[in-house]
Amino acid sequence: MNPIIKTEKISHVYSVDTPFERVAIKDVDFEAERGEYIGVIGHTGSGKSTFIQHLNGLLVPSSGRVLYDGNDIRASKAATRDVRFKVGLVFQYPEYQLFEETVFKDIAFGPRNMGLSETEIDARVREAAGFVGLPDAKLEVSPFDLSGGEKRRAAIAGVIAMRPEVLILDEPTAGLDPHGRDEILGNIDAYRRSTNATILVVTHSMDEIAKSADRLFVFSGGEIVISGTPRAVFLRGDELRQMGLAVPKVTEIAHRLRDAGVAVSADIYTIEQLATELASMRAAIRGGGTNA
Ligand SMILES: Nc1ncnc2c1ncn2[C@@H]1O[C@H](COP(=O)(O)OP(=O)(O)OP(=O)(O)O)[C@@H](O)[C@H]1O
Ligand SMILES: [Mg+2]
Repeated sequence: MNPIIKTEKISHVYSVDTPFERVAIKDVDFEAERGEYIGVIGHTGSGKSTFIQHLNGLLVPSSGRVLYDGNDIRASKAATRDVRFKVGLVFQYPEYQLFEETVFKDIAFGPRNMGLSETEIDARVREAAGFVGLPDAKLEVSPFDLSGGEKRRAAIAGVIAMRPEVLILDEPTAGLDPHGRDEILGNIDAYRRSTNATILVVTHSMDEIAKSADRLFVFSGGEIVISGTPRAVFLRGDELRQMGLAVPKVTEIAHRLRDAGVAVSADIYTIEQLATELASMRAAIRGGGTNA
């Protein structure tokens, strides 16, 4: 299958020819299939935000190419414009970018830029508000009257309203309480289920991403150093720790149980897996006739 989005050896150097020159990403090869859920992880400063801003053309690579559906996004003005709408980017703390008089107008900002009709804009806004669970009554209030979690959801709705085929979110749950985090992750899932969009989530939460992602990409020093399924990536716990990263808490528990001589599998990364494993061990002990 053709990847929907692909990068070929992209590098990005900030502040070229100044004392602040800095290679932020280097020779990054990446691809994602339609409908895939990708997690991007890495220590602070490893290049994650720089990388994702190339995928919709917001940053231009110093070298290398970005392909959308097989075509260089800089091949023509039309391609560069199109990719802005097809690849939706939600920044970290997007609620600080709400600025219109009403929530409706804020969510409508993207679709309006796309040149859609008023009827279509209205439909898009209501659909996007539905995905993030904002009731109609909230559309007419000022974004500043929303709660923190609602503001975040309104900002995400503004990107979803463009119906992007690739939805990228930079630390979408940062700063939210557990309930708020679950809501946002649920909103992303709802959008994905109904559109088969490709999802990229940059995160520091290994526990969250282990549950949702099909594939993980690990950045270190501006390069992708590990990629694969969560199972394959979290098996390399020692390497991750050397990069200053953690493994999911439940993986940590499984590894400690193994160190203590309990024969659980090393590749556990969700609570459900650990529960199943422990339950089957208990059943085996009972079945073996031990009076535990
Ligand atoms: N606008 C900029 N000008 C100069 N250097 C920058 C700029 N933005 C980022 N950098 C540098 O590029 C490197 C990569 O930064 P980036 O923000 O992409 O990392 P990150 O992985 O997103 O980090 P975090 O987890 O803290 O968000 C860092 O060394 C950073 O200081
Ligand atoms: Mg960042």
